[in-house]
Amino acid sequence: MRSIRIRASREYDVLIGRDASLALGDEIRRVCPDAVKALIVTETNIAPLYLDGIKEVIDEAGLDVSSYVFEAGEKSKNINEIAGMWNQMAEAGFTRTDIVIGLGGGVTTDMAGFAAATFLRGINVIQVPTSLLAMVDAAVGGKTGIDIPKGKNQVGAFWQPALVIEDTAFLKTLPEEVFTEGMGEVTKYAFIMDEKLYSVLEKSGGSITDELLEKIVAACVVDKAGIIEEDENDNGRRQILNFGHTVGHVIERDSGFTKPHGICVAKGMGIIIDASVREGTLDKDEAEKMKDLLKLYKLPVTDEITPAQIAEGAMNDKKKRGSTLSVILVDKIGNAVIRKMTKEEFLKFLSI
Ligand code: GLY
Repeated sequence: MRSIRIRASREYDVLIGRDASLALGDEIRRVCPDAVKALIVTETNIAPLYLDGIKEVIDEAGLDVSSYVFEAGEKSKNINEIAGMWNQMAEAGFTRTDIVIGLGGGVTTDMAGFAAATFLRGINVIQVPTSLLAMVDAAVGGKTGIDIPKGKNQVGAFWQPALVIEDTAFLKTLPEEVFTEGMGEVTKYAFIMDEKLYSVLEKSGGSITDELLEKIVAACVVDKAGIIEEDENDNGRRQILNFGHTVGHVIERDSGFTKPHGICVAKGMGIIIDASVREGTLDKDEAEKMKDLLKLYKLPVTDEITPAQIAEGAMNDKKKRGSTLSVILVDKIGNAVIRKMTKEEFLKFLSI
């Protein structure tokens, strides 16, 4: 099992490996020795697959374990579900030393983290991501939150977990489209900061063995660990992780959150890549290589959304500061730049 240390305001390990979740009981005892109760937060697609097994491991560690299961999907990422978690923990007499376990994809880890960040002004959360997207991004780095009608992740908190356990055996049961959307976030790391990862992904020709997949997950977590160490609160370099996201979030929200996050991010990256070529800040051949990699992993590179719709929608993005937006561009594979743009400048950039 690989162990990657995240050095943030709270330090913790990300454990990655096949059957890593079997170590959950021992790990809870190591990182949260005073915990008595655990609430597993999960959703209706994941519960039938993994809830009983995870419950058993926690039960064997001597904790009083219960679960909160919500309807799978981004539509559930709202305050009513969080209130349900708060109430369940209050009724069960949870105290500050007890824990929430987020078992699922990015929606679940965001919600479990937010419920933990806010209950009793903050209790421990352990993230057990089951999707590729959550393993390489959402479960690591302490971003937690929910959506509101005006936008995705508009309400939330930075709340670092006590531990993240990434059991790569879970990836075996992922539906193909869920795996594909995870590759949207994986390719993002290659573009913004990891040329070596780009080469690995390109050489593998679109088919990834189990062994390679574990290495790819670990490479993304190492990349993210370096960023979190430098800028935990997203005021500087961490913003490069939003490559493709400013556009992607608008596409996602306009679809009523029916289009998967990683797919919208891929479309967002494609749209930014094309605009960068037209603007002259990204070489045409480099751009083709990037879009070819996306296509190799069956990811879309464009969308019918208009520049005006993107610019308008992006103004509700939480990455906006005052009247400017931090737009993430890539000027060559492995190097991202942050450019501040007003709405007018962003519209002009997209419309060139
Ligand atoms: N998902 C982007 C970040 O953690 O900053």
